[in-house]
Amino acid sequence: MYYPDSVIDEVRSRNDIVSVIGQYVSLKRAGSGYQGLCPFHSEKTPSFHVTPSRQTYKCFGCQKGGNVFTFVMEYENVTFPEAVRILASRAGYELPKQEETEYGAQLRTKKERMLALYKEAAEYYYRKLRSESGKYGLEYLTGRQLTRETMRNFGLGYSDGNLYAAVKDHYDDPFLRESGLFTFRENGGAGDKFFNRVMFPIYGSDGRVIAFGGRVMGDAKPKYLNSPESLIFNKSRNLYNLNLARKSRRGYMILCEGYMDVIALTQAGFDNAVATLGTALTELQAKLLSRYTKDIILTYDSDGAGQTAIDRAIPILYQAGIRARIVDMSPYKDPDEFIKNLGAEEYEKRIQAARSSYRFEMDYLHKQFGDITSTDNTDGMNSFVDAAARWMVNYEDELERETYMKAFSKDYNVSYDAFVRRVNRLGAEVSKQKAAEAARAQQEAARAAEVIDGDGEVRESTAGRNVKRDEILNTQDYLVTIIGNLPRARKVIRRYLTVEDFTGSVYQNVVRRCFELPEEAPADDATIISRFETAEEQQLVAGMLSMEMALKAGDVSKAVEDAVMKMYKRRLERQIEKAKEENDLKEASRLMRESRKETEALRRKLRAEVY
Ligand code: UTP
Ligand code: MN
Repeated sequence: MYYPDSVIDEVRSRNDIVSVIGQYVSLKRAGSGYQGLCPFHSEKTPSFHVTPSRQTYKCFGCQKGGNVFTFVMEYENVTFPEAVRILASRAGYELPKQEETEYGAQLRTKKERMLALYKEAAEYYYRKLRSESGKYGLEYLTGRQLTRETMRNFGLGYSDGNLYAAVKDHYDDPFLRESGLFTFRENGGAGDKFFNRVMFPIYGSDGRVIAFGGRVMGDAKPKYLNSPESLIFNKSRNLYNLNLARKSRRGYMILCEGYMDVIALTQAGFDNAVATLGTALTELQAKLLSRYTKDIILTYDSDGAGQTAIDRAIPILYQAGIRARIVDMSPYKDPDEFIKNLGAEEYEKRIQAARSSYRFEMDYLHKQFGDITSTDNTDGMNSFVDAAARWMVNYEDELERETYMKAFSKDYNVSYDAFVRRVNRLGAEVSKQKAAEAARAQQEAARAAEVIDGDGEVRESTAGRNVKRDEILNTQDYLVTIIGNLPRARKVIRRYLTVEDFTGSVYQNVVRRCFELPEEAPADDATIISRFETAEEQQLVAGMLSMEMALKAGDVSKAVEDAVMKMYKRRLERQIEKAKEENDLKEASRLMRESRKETEALRRKLRAEVY
């Protein structure tokens, strides 16, 4: 762990969740808490709740929840230690440095120095572009129709080749070598890597410069030179302009190939454009994007290479849950050229008319079901048709859906009428599900607003979890909620279940922490959540500590009894499984014989417990 628990708790206590979230979301008082529109999914009626007494939040629509750290991690897309730092500095709290490992501290100091060097370099290039030596750079960019404002917004600069001379006195050579901004010759001389190029700073998610792309001002090769990966830069984890585009309110993002495309799009009013950094789209980048939107407009070059890149990007986006649409830019090559010639309005129209990735996705999809042309594989074909029908359902626009259904029946030789029936049937199911989910979310939101915390009494009801989840996970969640919130019931449960009865390291960890609490103390969700470092784990913990408890105190004993029984039965099943695996059939059949008796005995004991 990067910071000790005491420090993390201190930072958390200095950052009241309502005031932190209130900076990002407009919150209104509701019952004992606050509510607002969820920043993690788009909605019209508020289902996002903040509960000050527990210092947690939860969206009943998209199920995201956690404590103040989780919120910052999710919203700002940062790691746990970064969230700790952001919140510490927000509260004016100085984090102790000596608590880090020596290696960690060194690394961090070095990173900070590297960022400082990159900042200095960016400022240097920026100044040069506006000086006499950079006048051709400025001319070049002006010639490409960039305004001064755009140049400023993107921090564009010019490299005159004298950066080394400007920084060499306050950094040592090995460090400068590691930065990748310089070249060192065998004989000891050193100089700039970038010379006579217009410079495009690349920013990290916190808006600090982490790399550069430098473009020649003519036709020389290579057209772009990029600073290498370094301590502060990983090109498969970042996207050009993501730090700004993620703040866009447009609801979708435009993914393009080049820096210049992003800049031209932004200048034309599309504040939601990002680009990969000279490589093909990676899974990490897709995952990163999926945090902000599930709707991506792909606008890659219309040449062969661009089309190949589209083919490769679509399955990656698809797997990250993103639906891609493809812009037709003909007769132009890229967005930059298109906008220059036809303007922003025309481009907007092309976005509206962007084709879905139907063909790409069907290609990808059908490969999941084996050789569907084979007569032996009717199951595969059938599953494929089902999957395709599900895909069609996502099109809410009837005309659009019809177009694809027609194309599908033709492409795969499936009866159109039968296919339409299948799509409609699925569509009805899906909309029923959606309506039920929405209703449940609202109900939960309303209920959450009403519930008042009591000491040791059943607290806020926060159901609405995925109904399809494994039953045993629901049981585990339920038990964890009880273990966390009702000390008396915890005492009972501890007598029958052990940490190892729970599956999943996160569950085990939470249960262990709760079991270690003083006998009468309820767990403090927000503190326990802070013991986990990834947003996924934090969400999971937040969820398991706030499982539905629409139970009156009287019902708890019955529900606990059932839950403990389930867990106990599973323990026996596992023992039997294990015996079988070890070929100890005698033991296996003994266990099977005994299990009925044992569970009966357990039930009697549980009945006699007093909560
Ligand atoms: P493009 O050649 O499409 O660049 O390459 P562009 O941004 O549209 O630039 P202009 O309009 O020709 O000035 C797309 C991206 O591929 C990377 C860069 O990230 C570039 O933005 N690239 C391209 C390189 O890294 N090196 C190269 O030599 C060329
Ligand atoms: Mn271009």
